Amino acid sequence: MTTVDTVSTATRRSARFWDRIAERYAKKPVADEASYQRKLRITRSYLRPDMELLEFGCGTGSTALALAPDVARITAIDISSKMVGIARRKAESSGVANVAFLRAAIDDFEAPTGGFDSVLGMSILHLLEDRDAVVAKVHGLLKPGGVFVTSTACIGDFMRSFKLIAPVGRFLGVLPLVKVFTAVDLENSLKEQGFRIAERWQPGKGKSVFIVAVKAS
Ligand SMILES: C[S@@+](CC[C@H](N)C(=O)[O-])C[C@H]1O[C@@H](n2cnc3c(N)ncnc32)[C@H](O)[C@@H]1O
Repeated sequence: MTTVDTVSTATRRSARFWDRIAERYAKKPVADEASYQRKLRITRSYLRPDMELLEFGCGTGSTALALAPDVARITAIDISSKMVGIARRKAESSGVANVAFLRAAIDDFEAPTGGFDSVLGMSILHLLEDRDAVVAKVHGLLKPGGVFVTSTACIGDFMRSFKLIAPVGRFLGVLPLVKVFTAVDLENSLKEQGFRIAERWQPGKGKSVFIVAVKAS
């Protein structure tokens, strides 16, 4: 199993950012509840009660806890120990026993033998140092025929200039690591790593792009 201490300096720095804002993040309501519920509904249509699911960048655990009744077991990882702490408290208070919240980075996460039936990455792919490497990693973590469900801010589609702002915000400590790319860039990454795009939905202009990508069986 990975520990956050073995990943890059940039990723460790991200962990410190997310640790700092974890309590505030936990209190923030979902920005677009109707779209979030629709994403959950679509995700559930790909799940079965015997499945093993991995969620990376799980934050305070809301999505993993919402999907826990739909699968056998969920491994939910995050680089921020504060986020993981909040998620564990939520699991305990809601009596959910089939979700393991772990502090780990997706970058060097090792799958248990056999891999996962499904991998979930919500609001995370634009926050990674190397998106392509992580998409390849997810492909490797999935069983044949497994599905990768992801919702991603494709900032390059509506604010290319953010590329200039992001490093300044990061330097000042008010932004995490943020990468600017388009939905087409993301779809190309997924296809290049061997995924077929099964669903693509964007609730509106400037909203996160929701994708279900399938690994060949
Ligand atoms: C924007 S939050 C999204 C949280 C949750 N998925 C949601 O939709 O509310 C991004 C989360 O990803 C985590 N994260 C960032 N880089 C990561 C990495 N390389 N591996 C695992 N988690 C990471 C952060 O700590 C943070 O909790």
